[in-house]
Amino acid sequence: MNQAQAPKTYLSGVQPSGLQHLGNYFGAIRQHVELPLRDPGEHFYFIADYHALTSSRDPAQLREQVRETAITYLALGLDPTRATLFRQSDVPEVHEITWLLACTGGLGLLERAVSFKEKVERGLKPNIGLFLYPALMAADILAYDSALVPVGADQVQHIEIAQDLAASFNAIYGDVFRRPEALLSKEHSKVLGLDGQKMSKSYGNSLWIFESGKPLAKAIARIATDSRSPEEPKDPAGVLLLDFLRLLIDPAEFETWCARVRQGGAGAPGYGHLKQRLVEAMEQRFAPARERRDALLRDPAEVDRILAQGANKARARAVATRDRAFAACGLR
Ligand code: ADP
Ligand code: TRP
Repeated sequence: MNQAQAPKTYLSGVQPSGLQHLGNYFGAIRQHVELPLRDPGEHFYFIADYHALTSSRDPAQLREQVRETAITYLALGLDPTRATLFRQSDVPEVHEITWLLACTGGLGLLERAVSFKEKVERGLKPNIGLFLYPALMAADILAYDSALVPVGADQVQHIEIAQDLAASFNAIYGDVFRRPEALLSKEHSKVLGLDGQKMSKSYGNSLWIFESGKPLAKAIARIATDSRSPEEPKDPAGVLLLDFLRLLIDPAEFETWCARVRQGGAGAPGYGHLKQRLVEAMEQRFAPARERRDALLRDPAEVDRILAQGANKARARAVATRDRAFAACGLR
């Protein structure tokens, strides 16, 4: 494999967790959608349904969430002619690669995995799959000779584990797996929720990207404010509504709102004004995506077609890597 000349391969996986919120969009999805438009090279994105099984117990819900995730990516602009979108479980070869990595990697690597330890500390009864999670993730990455893996900071240790697992295998059997690097988006690493804490599906503080009309207005009405009057001059940094607006409106307009808030007096906007502007901005920003989502919901065959095409392309790559790794270690 001539790694220097090969086009760069980008790959990332997303958990099929159903509807997505603003934090998911600005923290992850937007990078995934925009990278293939900006950077030449190959781009692979998959829906991590095998990983989801470490906690999913409802088959109908899992199927539904996988579909919803695919539709979300397509609706938000992922171009399937530039990026390969597929379901992880359409590439069973990742399990063969997981086993090879498991047989050469030290146990301590997985024992040190922070996300596993955190889940156990929170009282979750761990299954074997949860322990193996980083090894499967390493196989996901290595199966496509991925060079760059765009992820959030919480996944960086998993990429390091993939590097170490690849190195352990390569040290014994030669240069089989390519070393991947994490690609971190620093811009919006922590989008705040309606209550001012980090936005998260599990905190009940989400603003959903496809919400519109009354439910959207209702959610925005919940954004935490205080009892200061509009006239009182305020530091924009302490106004949560402005954190939301910053994500959605152009910087010049944003500066105007901040200046008015800072100055106070009769010309300053009340929280109600800011909320109204935020409703408009959300409606406007995601209107095209909502329309595309509605169209895809009405056309399940199109979504199936895109996923099947993605699976074919992804699987061919994974099969080649599996064959190379099998040959190196003496299987077949
Ligand atoms: P949640 O915490 O809502 O369950 P996930 O853990 O499923 O979200 O995260 C999916 C992706 O979205 C990850 O890449 C994660 O880094 C990103 N993400 C989640 N919440 C936020 C947030 N509040 N700000 C920025 N990025 C986020
Ligand atoms: N663990 C990742 C997450 O929770 C999802 C994932 C699975 C992944 N396999 C991957 C991400 C491979 C990047 C590369 O977000």
